[in-house]
Amino acid sequence: MTNITLKVNRHQYSLDVLPWVSLLDALRDRLKLTGAKKGCDHGQCGACTVLCGGKRILSCMTLAVMKDGSEVTTIEGIANGDELHPLQKAFIEHDAFQCGYCTPGQICSAIGMLGEGKAHTRDEVKELMSGNLCRCGANVGIIDAIMEVREGGNRE
Ligand code: FES
Ligand code: FES
Repeated sequence: MTNITLKVNRHQYSLDVLPWVSLLDALRDRLKLTGAKKGCDHGQCGACTVLCGGKRILSCMTLAVMKDGSEVTTIEGIANGDELHPLQKAFIEHDAFQCGYCTPGQICSAIGMLGEGKAHTRDEVKELMSGNLCRCGANVGIIDAIMEVREGGNRE
């Protein structure tokens, strides 16, 4: 066991983990933060995406011990109290989820992507979000929601 500290959604945690435990399992099983989903567990679907130091990462492909001392944000930490994040609101407005399984990863990934500042067009947003799969066909709504927030951000 290795003792690590993680700051998750503004709370400090100290936990003992085995060296091979993924960040996803640590979040879900140990911290009971089940927003990040285990889709493929192989880095292929994006359902487990969380933000680490503001950057999007696949928590299924990340060992918890690698993130010792890091700051992690999961979907549970995205809203500002009762006030939903603009992307959460836009997802609701654009019917951007059906089963909702991919949604936490999509939203975390979109926040990370917008922070990267590389997406300038709808096609670029699509390309940069291509690591997040939705099996339900909500993709158009997802991209619409992200575009709305991206363009809203530009007007500010
Ligand atoms: S669960 Fe991590 S990429 Fe699919
Ligand atoms: S809404 Fe069902 S997988 Fe995306």
